[in-house]
Amino acid sequence: MIKATNLSHEFDYPLFKNISLEVKAKEKVAIIGVSGSGKSTLLHILSTFLKPNSGEVYLFNENIYSLKEKELINLRKNKTGIIFQFHYLFNGFSAFDNLKVAQILADTKIDETLLKRLNIDNVIHQNIQTLSGGQQQRVSIARVLTKKPKIIFADEPTGNLDRESAFEVMDILEEYCDKNEASLVMVTHDEEIAKKCNTIYKLENYGLHKLTK
Ligand SMILES: Nc1ncnc2c1ncn2[C@@H]1O[C@H](COP(=O)(O)OP(=O)(O)OP(=O)(O)O)[C@@H](O)[C@H]1O
Ligand SMILES: [Mg+2]
Repeated sequence: MIKATNLSHEFDYPLFKNISLEVKAKEKVAIIGVSGSGKSTLLHILSTFLKPNSGEVYLFNENIYSLKEKELINLRKNKTGIIFQFHYLFNGFSAFDNLKVAQILADTKIDETLLKRLNIDNVIHQNIQTLSGGQQQRVSIARVLTKKPKIIFADEPTGNLDRESAFEVMDILEEYCDKNEASLVMVTHDEEIAKKCNTIYKLENYGLHKLTK
């Protein structure tokens, strides 16, 4: 599903050099590392949003940074879903309207059970600005799952949540991946949450190191 080879990237200073990563269907991967180590940057590279200084990323056997803009947009629309560290919901609209957009674009259904499990069914008609950080985070998760992607990229998806809600979100993501044969690549600083994944990598000393659970 995902194959990344020899990725290197730097901004003002090098973040990582020659890292490679492979993710199979149904596999759940966690990436941990200290703040500023480049986790979000790596996720943006893997998820089509940032071309690395060098190296290649293949999603579904396509070399994504050699695709035409239109093909890239189709890939994002139909096959991948990203939960950003900072939520990009449409402000000024209700949570429900935000889900509706995903539902129309992907021609799917809004899953009422999912809204209940995420505990956002009671606030779904409120304006995004009136929701707490954790509620917005759960709306972002519902929006991404409504699109039915084959790969989910998630940057600290449980960052704003209490333990119980965090583990519920992990259960939901896990069940989604199993049921839809989808993969998950998530960034977290929470080692307990990372352990819910099949594989854990640590971004450290310019490299990506596989940890044994
Ligand atoms: N667009 C950018 N331009 C310049 N520097 C950037 C840019 N994006 C990130 N950086 C720098 O790259 C480094 C890594 O940032 P990144 O957001 O990937 O870290 P992170 O591991 O996700 O951290 P955190 O755990 O705090 O979210 C930081 O020093 C950041 O300032
Ligand atoms: Mg980050």
